[in-house]
Amino acid sequence: MNIVLLNGSPRAAGNTAEALKMLAEALPAGSKIDTVNIASLKIGACKSCFACKQNGGTCVQKDDCGELLDKIIAADALVFASPVYFMGITAQLKAVIDRFFAKVDQLKAKQKKVAVIAIGGTPPPAAQYEAIAGHIQAICAYLGWQYCGGYCTGSFQGDQNKTAEAKKEIATLAARL
Ligand SMILES: Cc1cc2nc3c(=O)[nH]c(=O)nc-3n(C[C@H](O)[C@H](O)[C@H](O)COP(=O)(O)O)c2cc1C
Repeated sequence: MNIVLLNGSPRAAGNTAEALKMLAEALPAGSKIDTVNIASLKIGACKSCFACKQNGGTCVQKDDCGELLDKIIAADALVFASPVYFMGITAQLKAVIDRFFAKVDQLKAKQKKVAVIAIGGTPPPAAQYEAIAGHIQAICAYLGWQYCGGYCTGSFQGDQNKTAEAKKEIATLAARL
């Protein structure tokens, strides 16, 4: 299975990265796992020029997003992971999602299993986690992908009890992918 893990955090070694490391460790042996730190890439926000709709799906922006979209299109499973920023996902992850606009047909063409990881400062339950999971579920419904669930929590790094609990819950999520 070819799995792409999208980390929307600007902190390469933060909570989101730690959660994705746990997920990668829990995925079946032999999975091809590609963890992408979006913040390390050059990805522009969609300009709404609609050129991609006239030219068969090529964005006018010559940045790193084309290669990333090819990886996402080819994936069997996709994980959207983000810290909570003002009740939603980060701008970095949203920029990638908005760039799906150019490749909707290709994205719809291949079935995918999808999960979401959202880590805030506030522990759940909280409306922000419902909002983020709801956003990813709506994307799955639109693209015909299978939503497999999510893992949402308040920050846990450095807290041994919370980290152990996170490991268990993330392993359960990994088993659904
Ligand atoms: C700009 C900004 C906005 C934030 N907004 C929220 C928020 O709305 N709700 C929340 O629970 N935490 C919020 N946080 C806290 C982060 O989500 C939290 O520290 C997270 O664990 C950071 O993840 P990371 O280590 O992967 O970057 C915010 C942090 C920043 C920097």
